[in-house]
Amino acid sequence: MERKFILAPSILAADFGQLNQEIDMINQSEAEWLHVDVMDGHFVPNLSFGIPLVKSMAKASNKLVDVHLMISNPESYIHKYHEAGAEMLTFHYEATDHVHSLAQQIRAMGAKAGCAINPHTPVELLFDVLEDLDMVCIMSVNPGFGGQKFIYRTLNKITRLRNEIDQRNLSTLIEIDGGVGLHNAEKILQAGAHVLVAGSAVFKSDDPIATIRKFKEIEKNSYTV
Ligand code: DX5
Ligand code: ZN
Repeated sequence: MERKFILAPSILAADFGQLNQEIDMINQSEAEWLHVDVMDGHFVPNLSFGIPLVKSMAKASNKLVDVHLMISNPESYIHKYHEAGAEMLTFHYEATDHVHSLAQQIRAMGAKAGCAINPHTPVELLFDVLEDLDMVCIMSVNPGFGGQKFIYRTLNKITRLRNEIDQRNLSTLIEIDGGVGLHNAEKILQAGAHVLVAGSAVFKSDDPIATIRKFKEIEKNSYTV
């Protein structure tokens, strides 16, 4: 069975001095989404983009804007990031006491709701709210920085979640974020992922458009488990 997947280049790895050109490049590529990492220097030990920058990137992008909130108190910011243009809004399981309520609030605004889990968090903790989530983002590195090494034990987590989603006939997407490259994409897809985030692998390559094309060629040979 041939299967499709979504590629979401992470703008965190782009050249910030040429943000418009980088987004233009993604617009012209075969990638489906634009992944935007928001960091607050509190939930993660790094700072990245705030609301005004997300707004201008969303305006420039013709791809679905996938905003990954690595912030404390996501409840206080979901509306602002949605107004700024986020279509998929992913908050962290570890950053809220109210996953179900937050997911419902995101959907009520008209956005898609995603929940991300850190490497130490068992994916089973989200099984009771899968119906309320459009996406589960499984972190395959510790959040906060691009360019880290993929944690291979994540593959098992992906398969556990994919089995649950398929058994219950749900449409929840599985996104894998961190250390994804051409060298491991096929394995990750075979484990059951639907969405691959790739930062350094795309933006630090010599020819990002060609790299994206190579990623998209993988789907032709990839199979679900
Ligand atoms: C990590 C971020 C990732 C990051 C991925 O905290 O959530 O989205 O940009 O970058 P790479 O692909 O370089 O690991
Ligand atoms: Zn991310």
